[in-house]
Amino acid sequence: MTAALATLTSPVRPLPIRALRPNRFSVSLYGDPAAETDGLLESVRNRGVLVPLVVVRDGDDAYEIVSGHRRMACALILGMDEVPGQVVKIAPGEDRRRAVLDYNRQRRKTFSQMMREADALEEIVKGEARRRQWANLAQNAGPERPNSDARRGRTDTAVAEAIGLGGKDAYRQARAIWKAARTGDIRAQSGVDAIDAGTKTIHAAYKDLRRRDRFSAGFRPTPYDVWAFRHDRAFGVPHPGSIPPAIVAHALHYFTRAGDLVVDPMAGGGTTLDVCASMGRRCLAYDLHPVRPDIVDRDVKIGFTPDSNGCDLIFVDPPYHTMLARRYPGAGIGEQPLADWIAFLNRLAVDSFATLKPGGYIAVLLANQTERDLPAGNGYIDHAFLGYSALIAAGFVPERRISCPMDGAYLPQHVKRARTEGRMLGQVRDLLVMRKPSHHDDSSDSPAASS
Ligand SMILES: C[S@@+](CC[C@H](N)C(=O)[O-])C[C@H]1O[C@@H](n2cnc3c(N)ncnc32)[C@H](O)[C@@H]1O
Repeated sequence: MTAALATLTSPVRPLPIRALRPNRFSVSLYGDPAAETDGLLESVRNRGVLVPLVVVRDGDDAYEIVSGHRRMACALILGMDEVPGQVVKIAPGEDRRRAVLDYNRQRRKTFSQMMREADALEEIVKGEARRRQWANLAQNAGPERPNSDARRGRTDTAVAEAIGLGGKDAYRQARAIWKAARTGDIRAQSGVDAIDAGTKTIHAAYKDLRRRDRFSAGFRPTPYDVWAFRHDRAFGVPHPGSIPPAIVAHALHYFTRAGDLVVDPMAGGGTTLDVCASMGRRCLAYDLHPVRPDIVDRDVKIGFTPDSNGCDLIFVDPPYHTMLARRYPGAGIGEQPLADWIAFLNRLAVDSFATLKPGGYIAVLLANQTERDLPAGNGYIDHAFLGYSALIAAGFVPERRISCPMDGAYLPQHVKRARTEGRMLGQVRDLLVMRKPSHHDDSSDSPAASS
């Protein structure tokens, strides 16, 4: 008997709440039901539990819920003693798992919930295929050996339809993202979170996954010193200050070699980490407000971590003085008065000099401040000049100054207002690259000269 048929034939009766247990498989797919009572709670408060729960017997005076975990959670929150329920017979194991999936077919699900359903369904489909093979063998018909692509295609179509994800192509993209996230891939997990939150489509997250090797095989760096690149969500997790990854990729190309150690002490969303991974560089990343587990929690004002010593490149993208400071959590260097910011740059230059290996490079990304918080009478603050002075004072030798105009720094309404007011919007940003002199200082040491 199917689960649906079983409920048609069993009477509805009041069940004591204390006798009800959740089904572990259901909780593993859909999470804690108490976290999903929005919308339902008010209805249960006003009208009670209208649709009976479906339960199976689980010992003498206990029942396991097959359908109705959220109704049960609402009843618990509201302090009810009983809920209406139907006691059915569904064998434990695969039948019961199927019943849980069937009862939740119409439910509104997040992407993660759908993909957990897909994992469970794939297991069930595999089990069915194994049983068919054994049956064929038992009838001496020989094992069923369909071509594995065709078998995979059939499974994908069946699972996609069952979880409500459309066709097998959408499901294959979804599975690629999901599988990568399951292996601990932070960017894929960030894609899953974005799909769950409705801010990204499955297709966009899949395209991000496929673009990750754009700086490995076939990367063609620009030979010019203007690095005007666009943001790319395939690198770094969402962060208000993230930079186009091609800036980091070019810095790595010109100023490091494969296997070199790169340190980013103000790592934000981890763009540097991800570009290093795709280009075969090692990377240590810290931030005052780490947003992912591979970024260490550290205030760079207290200096670099000991494992940074002897690194080949320090890449820093600081929140220059108060620009954008409002978009970050508090206490960052972007919150400080101008004099403290300048003192910070000097300290950072001295600490970087002590940390880098002789012949190593520092690359600091600094913009002109033109829009707000300018000292009285000043038209702009030249942060690159402040950085240049700090680095020279610390003992660095200038290597290159690269123009990296800001991409997407202004919203359309800002641009419109600037046009109306006849005002220029600042886009000037520079990557200052300086070298720590080596004992036998010779510019032919440069990786760019050898690559
Ligand atoms: C412009 S964002 C870096 C963005 C990064 N390049 C990316 O692509 O995502 C600057 C970062 O510096 C961090 N920060 C500010 N003050 C800091 C401090 N004293 N020590 C470490 N990190 C700090 C902020 O939390 C912020 O994440």
